Amino acid sequence: MQHERRDGTRAIYARLMLTTIALAVACGRGDAPAAADRGATAPPPNPIATLDTTPPSGALGASVRRGRALLTATRDSLPSHVGSALRCFSCHLDEGRRAGGLSLVGVYTRYPQYRLRRGRVDLIEDRVNDCFVRSLNGHAISVGGDDMRDIVTYLWWLARGVAVGDIVEWTAVPELATLPADTLRGARIFSESCARCHGANGEGAGVVPPVWGAKSYNIGAGLARYRMAALFVLHNMPFDKPNTLTPQQALDVSRYIDTRPRPDLAGKEYDWPTGDRPNDVPFPTHPGPTGGADTARTRAHSGAR
Ligand code: HEC
Ligand code: HEC
Repeated sequence: MQHERRDGTRAIYARLMLTTIALAVACGRGDAPAAADRGATAPPPNPIATLDTTPPSGALGASVRRGRALLTATRDSLPSHVGSALRCFSCHLDEGRRAGGLSLVGVYTRYPQYRLRRGRVDLIEDRVNDCFVRSLNGHAISVGGDDMRDIVTYLWWLARGVAVGDIVEWTAVPELATLPADTLRGARIFSESCARCHGANGEGAGVVPPVWGAKSYNIGAGLARYRMAALFVLHNMPFDKPNTLTPQQALDVSRYIDTRPRPDLAGKEYDWPTGDRPNDVPFPTHPGPTGGADTARTRAHSGAR
C-alpha cells in the first residue's frame, strides 16, 4: 500500500540520517565556538512537542500520514515539482515540530494571511506552493489535488491544541536584525563548523542537503535572506551542536552562504510590490503601490522560473 510504502521510506531515511550524522560527528574536525561565547538561548518549549505524534486511524489519519510522507520524501514522491536536493523537512526540522526549527506547529491557524512579499492575502495552499517554487526550487503543485489535500491535512494535524490567532513563534533575537555581517569571518566559520557535513563547496552529501549551488534553494527563498537564515542556523546548526553559535557567528556564516551562487527565480523583482522589502533581500525589487503583484503571482503559480 502506498501509505505504508511511504512510511517505510521515512523510516529508512531516518535511519540513514542517524548513521550519516554519527559518521559525520565521528570524523568531524571543526568544533563549534566556545560555549562561554554563546549568545543564543534555546527557544521556548513547543506546546505539542510532547503530544502523541501517531496520527489517528481511518481515512483522516491516512491523509495526515500521506501528507507527512510527502514532506519527508518530497523529491522521490513529487520529482517533477522539486528542482533541488532538499525536502520540506530539510528546513522544517523534526517533521515540522521543532520549536526554532522553522516550526510548522499552529501555522494552519494563521492563514489566510496578508503577506507583504506578494502584497496580497495568501491561503495556506499558496504558502505551501511558495516553498515548492522557492525553497525547493521547483514547481507549484495543483491547489485542488490530492497531494495538496494531504499536505494541508498534515498541517492541520500539527495545529491541534493551538487556538486560532495564537502565535507559536521561535525566539526573536534582536541582534539578528541589526548587527552587520562579515563574509570573510563567515567563510572561516563555514569551513570550521559546517563543511564537515555540508561539504567544502556547500554541495551537501548523502542526506545532508546542499547550502548553495545548483541543487540548493533559489534566490527568492526565505533562507536566501541572510538574517532569516541566521535565525535558523543559530538555533539548529551545527546539526549535532545546536544553539552553540553566537548571533554574530550565525549572521556571518549565513551571509557567507547566501552570497554563494544559487538558482535564480524569474519574476523575483516583483516581490514586495508595495516597497516594504526587508534589508536582507539579495536582489533589487520594483517598489510601487501595486507594481507587478499580478505578474509575480502568475509566474509563481505557473511554476515558471
Ligand atoms: C530551504 C528551506 C525550506 C524548505 C526546503 C521548505 N521551507 Fe517552508 N519555509 C521556509 C522559510 C524560511 C519560511 C518562512 C518562515 C517565516 O516567515 O517565519 C517557510 C515557511 C513555510 C510555511 C509558512 C509558515 C508560517 O509560519 O507562515 C509553510 C506552510 C511551509 N513553509 C511549508 C513548506 C513545505 C510544504 C515545504 C516543502 C514543499 C517547505 N516548506 C520547504 C523554509 C523552507
Ligand atoms: C553534523 C552535520 C551537520 C553540520 C555540522 C551542519 N549541518 Fe546544516 N544540516 C544538516 C542536516 C542533516 C540538515 C537537514 C536536516 C534534515 O533533513 O532533517 C541540515 C540543514 C541545514 C540547512 C537547511 C537546509 C539546506 O540545506 O539549505 C542549512 C541552511 C544549514 N544546514 C546550514 C548549516 C550551517 C551554516 C552549518 C554550520 C554552522 C551547518 N549547517 C552545520 C547537517 C549538518
